[in-house]
Amino acid sequence: MPTPTPLISAEQIRTRVGELAAALAQRIPDGEPLHLVGVLKGGFMFLADLVRALPRPATVDFARLASYGSGTTSSGAVQLVTAPHPVRGRHVVIVEDIVDTGLTLERLRQHLLADQPQSLTTVALLSKPGRASEVPIELVGFTLEDDRFVVGYGLDLDQQHRQLPYIGVLDPS
Ligand code: PRP
Repeated sequence: MPTPTPLISAEQIRTRVGELAAALAQRIPDGEPLHLVGVLKGGFMFLADLVRALPRPATVDFARLASYGSGTTSSGAVQLVTAPHPVRGRHVVIVEDIVDTGLTLERLRQHLLADQPQSLTTVALLSKPGRASEVPIELVGFTLEDDRFVVGYGLDLDQQHRQLPYIGVLDPS
């Protein structure tokens, strides 16, 4: 199996996650806890680091979504496979590893908003360029310059490479 070429180092990720955690805490009134909802599977590592960097009490939950369509075409339908627990009245933070089309994020946002949280914020470690959808993302770690497929730090190709501490690209073969 080829080793991905590093694009964003573990050190760069650590620094940026610290900045995101500080910015996130500033958005929520002092003394009020945050409720993080991680998007599985890709978001598990980002959430684990983000919650440890947060200078505030936080609770943690997860959601799992699946999009339909194959290859480069998407039907636009995203199914909520595992719903998060109710969030009414909470300061909810969606923790996404990467936003590509934005359909996954939009589906989860609508689900959570229907439950009337006190606030809803999205933090995404990575954002791809050229997205058609207007889904709001309050905090972004890194914006990728092109449409290259990235792996590592939770992100996979056929379930491989999630364990890498950095984000890398696979050389075209
Ligand atoms: C990936 C990624 C995001 C989503 C973004 O998850 O982790 O959750 O796709 O895509 P979108 O913005 O185009 O909707 P994936 O469905 O590959 O599942 P995984 O996290 O379990 O690998």
